[in-house]
Amino acid sequence: MFFKKKPTEFKCTIANTGETFTVPGKINLLQAALNAGIKWPCDCKVGSCGTCRCILKEGKIKALHDFTYTLDGEMLKEGYILACQSQLKSDLVVEVDFEQGSLENLKLV
Ligand code: FES
Repeated sequence: MFFKKKPTEFKCTIANTGETFTVPGKINLLQAALNAGIKWPCDCKVGSCGTCRCILKEGKIKALHDFTYTLDGEMLKEGYILACQSQLKSDLVVEVDFEQGSLENLKLV
């Protein structure tokens, strides 16, 4: 007899708004936030624009894509991750700037 492993669920808290939502199974952080009705900034959803970036304050994630292609060394040191390319390995606390745009827009300023 085979037993199906129960999908794991984790909780994500957005520190600067106090919102919390559940991240089920293998759904990435961005998709879980959007499913929960959170207006998380995003654009490409494939890890190239950087719009979904957030600062990881607590917890562990699995990066589905190498963040160094999109985020610079300074951002990585500050703890930035890409929500669209992150699966949770524990409950998380993150900080999200809901006014931020893509990194391309920053480079043009
Ligand atoms: S939405 Fe573009 S990098 Fe995540």
